[in-house]
Amino acid sequence: MRIRDFVPSDAQQLVEILKANQQYGHPEIDGPEAMSKVHQCRAAEFLVVEEDYRVVGFIRGVYDGSRAIIHIASVHPDYQRRGIGRALVREIAERFKQRGASSLAVTVPGELGFWKKVGFRQTTRIMFAYPIDDILG
Ligand SMILES: CC(C)(COP(=O)(O)OP(=O)(O)OC[C@H]1O[C@@H](n2cnc3c(N)ncnc32)[C@H](O)[C@@H]1OP(=O)(O)O)[C@@H](O)C(=O)NCCC(=O)NCCS
Repeated sequence: MRIRDFVPSDAQQLVEILKANQQYGHPEIDGPEAMSKVHQCRAAEFLVVEEDYRVVGFIRGVYDGSRAIIHIASVHPDYQRRGIGRALVREIAERFKQRGASSLAVTVPGELGFWKKVGFRQTTRIMFAYPIDDILG
């Protein structure tokens, strides 16, 4: 297993992983163009994992100068339950810690089981406005 920074040529493989996990409902926030923007954002950490010489998963999140948050993680179904998701969470946590973060949150649309297993506690509920114009009127 090798974890490294995302490069734009990974985008199509990540789209296939998201589709395989039924996580590709919003291409405008998770598709190749959005991935390129995240890649260019200095606040973001965007990591991919390779196994068997192919990209099989990724994780991405941001550090705001104090706190960090993970927004999405995905491991190809053929490679789940082998410790890859845990390794991605550990690596992004290490990166955020090195940048100065003392806390790490995660936005979880689905099951909590994995996140509890890797060390998160459920505290608050996160509320969501998408599209952002729901707030702007
Ligand atoms: C959630 C996900 C990223 C976990 O990746 P993974 O590589 O399968 O996880 P790991 O193998 O590292 O699992 C770490 C631990 O969590 C457990 N675990 C994994 N998925 C779990 C689940 N859905 N429910 C409960 N426990 C789970 C594993 O059994 C393992 O426990 P152990 O250390 O006691 O053996 C992956 O299953 C996935 O991409 N799922 C679909 C998309 C998704 O839900 N993403 C998260 C929301 S953004």
